[in-house]
Amino acid sequence: MDTLRVLITREQIAAKVAQLGERITSDFAGESIVLVGVLKGATIFLADLARQIKLDATFDFIAVSSYGSGKQQSGEVRMIKDMDRSVEGRNIILVEDILDTGLTLTYLKNVLQAHRPRSLRVAALLDKISRRTEPVHGDYVGFAIPDEFVVGYGLDSAERYRNLSDICVLESGSETR
Ligand code: IMP
Ligand code: MG
Repeated sequence: MDTLRVLITREQIAAKVAQLGERITSDFAGESIVLVGVLKGATIFLADLARQIKLDATFDFIAVSSYGSGKQQSGEVRMIKDMDRSVEGRNIILVEDILDTGLTLTYLKNVLQAHRPRSLRVAALLDKISRRTEPVHGDYVGFAIPDEFVVGYGLDSAERYRNLSDICVLESGSETR
């Protein structure tokens, strides 16, 4: 049996996302941006963040291989879907749901830098700082969280729970997630 314990409420998320949107709006005043969401976990965060950014903005999406259906990762990151449009000379904000080891972000930063953007910054709703093995960080980070497996607001466990409005710790009795 899975047990869900609320860690961050929808109200806390909304307040934080509004703050992040204001910071991005002022940091890029007078410029245009491309929000590049990492499928699928970042979709809900991107949808809310985008509406708190008062700038000329476009969306694009990329997809990478993830942990699969379990909690352990192989350490290998693969591109499954690339961006639709060129981002050369554009201000990119990469939108991630959560920074964990940093392997995914390291890979994505390299891929995106190869497209020669004008600038590249990272927005991440959650950050499990204690898990980091790579020297990467988010520029716009919502919440630092402890090393617990969380779901909701886009984050999944084997594709489930993405539609929860709050971010919850998933406490599971079994090893299969
Ligand atoms: P990293 O490459 O280790 O930084 O992993 C980042 C990716 O792992 C995220 O984009 C998520 O898809 C996934 N992930 C890491 N921690 C969690 C979690 O607690 N819940 C759900 N997904 C997670
Ligand atoms: Mg995932």
